[in-house]
Amino acid sequence: MANFPIEAVRGKFPALSLADKGRRIYLDNPAGTQVPQAVADAVSRCLLSTNANLGGFFETTVAAQQVVDEAHAAMADFLGAASVDEIVIGANMTTLTYHMSRTLGRTMKPGDEIIVTRMDHEANVSPWLQLAEDLGLVVRFLPFDEQSWQVEEEALQALLSERTRLVALNYASNLTGSINRVKSLTALAKQAGALVYVDAVQFAPHGLIDVQALDCDFLVCSAYKFFGPHMGILWGRRDVIDALKPYKCRCSSNGLPERFELGTPQIELMAGLTAAIDYFADLGAAAGGGGSRRQRIAKAFEVSIAYENALTWQLIEGLSDIEGLTIRGITDPERIAERVPTVSFTVEGIAPETIVRQMNAENIYLWSGHNYAWEIVHQLGIPPEQGVVRIGIAHYNTATEIGETLESVHRVIAMVRQQRS
Ligand SMILES: Cc1ncc(COP(=O)(O)O)c(C=O)c1O
Repeated sequence: MANFPIEAVRGKFPALSLADKGRRIYLDNPAGTQVPQAVADAVSRCLLSTNANLGGFFETTVAAQQVVDEAHAAMADFLGAASVDEIVIGANMTTLTYHMSRTLGRTMKPGDEIIVTRMDHEANVSPWLQLAEDLGLVVRFLPFDEQSWQVEEEALQALLSERTRLVALNYASNLTGSINRVKSLTALAKQAGALVYVDAVQFAPHGLIDVQALDCDFLVCSAYKFFGPHMGILWGRRDVIDALKPYKCRCSSNGLPERFELGTPQIELMAGLTAAIDYFADLGAAAGGGGSRRQRIAKAFEVSIAYENALTWQLIEGLSDIEGLTIRGITDPERIAERVPTVSFTVEGIAPETIVRQMNAENIYLWSGHNYAWEIVHQLGIPPEQGVVRIGIAHYNTATEIGETLESVHRVIAMVRQQRS
């Protein structure tokens, strides 16, 4: 923890020091993170000085195109893509996934099989289920293992067949926090001839993604979960996406990635996206990293993962002495590297919303509910209308904040129990 420049990090995020209604503790990070000043500045600068549509010859349209190109280049560095042509930027992960699923549907026929997991967010389940309904595809559900909290290779192997066309799986769960072994799961799926579509929305803020090493075909993430603006990014392997015919206007470009980017892009948000990626690179540089932007991003993750893991363990340990509280995810300190810092729990006899409402009133921001991890709550037998209490750490949180949060959890649970006794 000692090497992490926490004060410098916090100084870059104006929202962290807002104290109009007392201090705020942001633990709602899996739902959306705060942004550095540089991100807001880049959005504002773009709107105020280079606001134009694309494709012309005058100064502002040329500048706007540069903003778009820079965002694609930044995301290629962030994801380790072989080319900027593989980066598709859109409204959010859900919209991109619905669009790509429809495009892929054009290559599928009745009786083809697809695999979705019981560990994914609905945005990587519903689009495929509805595609299957439209086309007469066979859907196979891949459960996660309730001991390891991960999707196991044997379970995937058991579902693959020569008719499997696609496997949709997540990198890290937005409820349990566990990280899947995407590389080995992908290798299995590819041996069977299936395409692999990876939801990295919850992994992206917490670890370096290397799409080439993973060898998947698609990977999606959302910038607002990693300190950027509200937008989504899809990476598609060049040979795979180049063979696809998306739904699009006849007269719009057939080039890559424009073929998949419908209508006028969110140009100002792309300016913010580049600033978010540069924020990681700057953090890496501040932690002693050098070299290319990607190398500096890698350094940023190296130091932030170590820092986050310490906070995660502080949180897990601090929750473990509460009677009737069950953490729904990995709690073994030896396996801390196999999870992101999102910790969800339930408490016997107390609705998650009751706990969360009281903590929210104390300016501790966190969520209750199923959080769209619809399949997970069903597999675990948790009533979806109740769900869990979810505490989601980001690298700008502190040990003091986790300490205060733990005190609050203890106090609120004791208070509710006392009121009922
Ligand atoms: C794991 C996961 N996948 C997908 C999504 C949906 O992302 P978006 O809001 O960009 O559509 C979320 C949002 O919380 C998520 O946590």
